[in-house]
Parts: sequence; C-alpha cells; structure tokens
Amino acid sequence: MLCERYLSIDLSLFQVMISLESYELENIFIWCSSDLVFISIDRGNNMIDSTDSLDELLTCRLGAGKRDVQPCTIVIFGASGDLTSRKLIPALYHLYKEKQLPQPFRILGFARRDKSDDSWRAELLEGLKKYSRSKSVDLALWTQFAETIFYHRGDLSDLEAYKSLKISLDQAEDDRLKKNLLFYLAISPSQFSEAVQHLSEARLLSKEETGDHWQRIVVEKPFGHDGPSAHELNESLTHHAHERQIYRIDHYLGKETVQNIMVFRFSNFIFEELWTRQSIDHIQITVSEKLGVGSRGGYYEEAGALRDMVQNHLLQVMSLIAMEPPVSLNDESIRDEKVKLLQSIRPMTEEDVASRVVRGQYFAGMMDGEMRPAYRQEQKVSPTSNVETYSAMKLFVDNWRWSGVPFYLRTGKNLPLSASEVRVQFRPVPNVLFAAQCQHNLDSNALTLRLQPNEGINLRFNGKVPGNSSELRPVSMQFSYDTEFGAYTPEAYERLLLEAVAGDATLFIRRDEVEAAWKVVDTIRKAWEGKPLSNREFYSAGTWGPEAADELLGRSGHRWRNPVIHS
Ligand code: BG6
Repeated sequence: MLCERYLSIDLSLFQVMISLESYELENIFIWCSSDLVFISIDRGNNMIDSTDSLDELLTCRLGAGKRDVQPCTIVIFGASGDLTSRKLIPALYHLYKEKQLPQPFRILGFARRDKSDDSWRAELLEGLKKYSRSKSVDLALWTQFAETIFYHRGDLSDLEAYKSLKISLDQAEDDRLKKNLLFYLAISPSQFSEAVQHLSEARLLSKEETGDHWQRIVVEKPFGHDGPSAHELNESLTHHAHERQIYRIDHYLGKETVQNIMVFRFSNFIFEELWTRQSIDHIQITVSEKLGVGSRGGYYEEAGALRDMVQNHLLQVMSLIAMEPPVSLNDESIRDEKVKLLQSIRPMTEEDVASRVVRGQYFAGMMDGEMRPAYRQEQKVSPTSNVETYSAMKLFVDNWRWSGVPFYLRTGKNLPLSASEVRVQFRPVPNVLFAAQCQHNLDSNALTLRLQPNEGINLRFNGKVPGNSSELRPVSMQFSYDTEFGAYTPEAYERLLLEAVAGDATLFIRRDEVEAAWKVVDTIRKAWEGKPLSNREFYSAGTWGPEAADELLGRSGHRWRNPVIHS
C-alpha cells in the first residue's frame, strides 16, 4: 500500500536529507516553497510523518505484526454462561474478522444444558448483537465464523462427559485440531480443580506435552478466595498441568492502556528518569465504578471490593507502575519483576490496617436523578452485611526506588463516575521564587495515565496566564488514544485470547504472583474480621466514598484527585 505523509523541514536543516537515505525508502518527492522544503515519503507500510518539524514517526514493531498461532480447538467450559456470550464469543468473532485466528480452528462449547450446535449458535448471535464492540454484526461473516462453532453437552463433574468430549474432539480430520487444545474455564471457581482433574483423566490434558502439540488451561478470576485457597488451587492445577500451561486471567492486563504502562516507562527516557522517590511525592491509583453490585449480590457478598478488585486489578496496575525494568521482554522476566514488586509491599500489622486502610459500604443515594438502593437492600445481600463496596489504602513499597513514597489505591461501586487512572504526583518545587509568592497555591506537577475512559496521558504543569499581571495556573499537555490512533480499541479479551492461543503468558498471572497479591489482601481481611462497619464507614451512592478516605490522605497533607471525564 502506498503510504504518503508529508515532512516539512526548515531549509537550514537540509542536511537531514542525507540521513534519510539510510532508510529503505521507495520514493521521496521533494519540492520547495519560499522557506520550506516539503518531502513526501513512501516507505512501504512504514510511515514517516511530521507536520512541522524534522521529527519522524519511527514505528518500532516488536516481533512479527501477526501473532504466530497454530491451528487448535478452543474448548469453552461454561458455554451457556454470561462471560461466554458477553465477552468470549464477541472477542473471538473480532479476532476472526481481523484474520488473527489460526486456520483451521474450532470452538467447542461444553455445558450441561441441552442444545444443538445450531441453537447455541443462534444464542451466541443474539449475544454478539448485544455486546459486540463493532456497531453492526456482519451476518455473512458470522455465518462463516459460526461454522467453526460446536456444542457438546456434558456435566462438569462427570468423567464420562470428558471422555465423550474427547471422542467428539477426535473426530476432526486435522491432527492439530485434536491435540492443540485451549481449555477456557469460564465456570465457577469451585469447579476449576475438578474440571482440570477430569481433563487429565480423560487424556485431554497432558502434563508431558509431546511433540508439536500443546494443551493450555485459561482460568478466570477469582483465583482462590485467600492465600491458602489460592495455594491449594495452584497445587491441584499443577498436579495435572505444568505452570507454563496455566493462564490465569486478569482482564486489566488485556487493556491497551495497561499494556502501554511498560512501553511508556521503559521506552521514554524523560519519564523513567523521574520515576523515583527523589521526584515523586506519591501515586494515586483509582478504579471507580458508577454501577452498584446489581444482580451480582450473591457473588459480591463472598468477594467484597478487596477480593473483587484490589487483589487483582489494582495490584496488577500498581506492580506495572512500580516494578523495576525487566532484564528482557519475555514473559518470565516481566513477571519476575512484578512479583518482586508485590513482595516489596510493606506488610501491615492490625494497627497499620486500622490507620492505613479504609473500607466503606454504600447506602441509598441519588445518581443521575435516580434513587439507588443501599447495598444491604440489593438482591441476595444480607440486610446486616458488613461487606465492603469501597476500599482505599495507603501502601508503601520497601525498596530502593520507592522507599517512603505512599501509593494510594482506591476502588468502589456507586461512585460518581466510572474511571480508572493512575496519577503520579511529583514533589513540589522548593519554596522560593514563584512558590514562595504563591503561598501554597502552586500546584505540583502531575502525570495522569488515563486507563479508561478518555484513554490517554495527561501532563500537568504550571504556566503563565497571558497578560500584564503575573498569574500562574496549571496547564496540560495531552495524549489521547482517540486523536492519535483513531477510535479502534480492541477489547481486553481479544488480546488475552490471542495471547493464550499463541502461547505467550506475559499478560497472565503467574503462580507466585497470585499468591503474593493475596498476602497483601489477606492481612487486611483478617484485621477486619468480626468488626462490624461503623457509621463513618458508609457513603451515600453517588459520592466519592466515606469521609475516612479523605482523612487518610489529609493526614499526610495529600488529597484525592478525582478523575474527570470529557465527553
Ligand atoms: C471485574 C469485577 O473483574 O471487573 C467487577 O468482578 C468489575 O466487579 C469489573 O465491575 C470492572 O472491569 P472494567 O473493565 O469495567 O473496569
């Protein structure tokens, strides 16, 4: 494809032309105006771009553009479930649409309900129409895609069902569709162990992967409900499969903006140089949600905000933000660094939890002109429940880079808006010159990584307000994904499914990582055990959490910076 962009350069810098010769350019067109030289460059698929400077957009592609994927069958356990129709099938449909899936491949759904291939396909199509990220479903494409989808009825607890699953898998003509198997466990966590055991007994899963074939298991969260149960589950899974065959999902790692954290930190000199206790005052990680628990009361009563959000999404984001540079970009090196970071989080005593962790539960409140019920009034929730729907905490990382820098994490349901972001708050300038004259009204620099929505990065610094008076105020430099790359943002599950098929575990949680994250959360849970919520720990739906959360920061002279969404 011919790709033309225009580069305009100042005449005095004409020598840049010489350096351009070192690229493999197919065509260069040059023409001059009075003081500018315009160059139009065609470099195959790679673009050179500049609007009014000499800067080039040097695109660096890591590895091949397309994932190396081998023909396989994706077996979905929990085929009738919400996750399958809401996330998995739309993700696979889009991967198919973008020709990212291997050829040939098959999807085989396994569940207890009685369905035919056709009735399951019809159900999935309805789900796709509802949840697809692309506005309309291409029906011709769907028809082709649907031909790769099959249903197998079976009971998860019945070994015979796995044996008959094997018979049905073995019917494929292509050996790779029989033996390259990705088992996606979209089922209740209490069934993970049993399912994996039966897979092994039915000889569908082999720990000694032989020859060119592979079998992998993708496990949804929650992975255990505390450290000991996660450890037990790990023991049980690794009895039947190697750690390298196990892909533990945290869908936050599939988000573009979360993947960009490492790129941002380790491909930019200017930011990483400042990424230390010398420059950073504190870091805030906020994952706020506008929705209440809705119909998920039963699950939430068991989980609470700590298990549902902190143990996984927030600690994952924190580990990417704070980890040391890995020795290489391979999955093990990256995960080694994340684990080290999680292990460096300062352990808390019961007193620390009391002073550094805040919990909250929403009571009724108005949101967008509608009355939201209190958590205790939600379906399947006990009217005396003490489960937290909000949590905020101050963590410290005891290592060379971060010693003394607070990491504030918070998450909650029924907050004023849905937004996830990381705010890196830099230290104030010395109290001289402008700062001395501004008397604490000079804001410190801040860098905000907006994970969702309004995906992008914002750098805030002070500038002079134009005019004869000397007035300073914060101004912003913005990077927006939409403006820079267009609105295309693949769903997290697309990336994760593709990586699992390709056999790259970088975006999945390793055994020691999951256990290290539970350690942080377990201490907090233990300290809360048997302690009913006090009046101060409730917050009204539609507010930013209990007052105690503001006090938590206030004690150190900090304050929460709430996300702002631009429409
Ligand atoms: C899930 C939690 O893991 O993440 C939900 O179980 C939460 O309670 C969801 O709503 C948030 O994900 P996202 O991608 O909407 O931020």
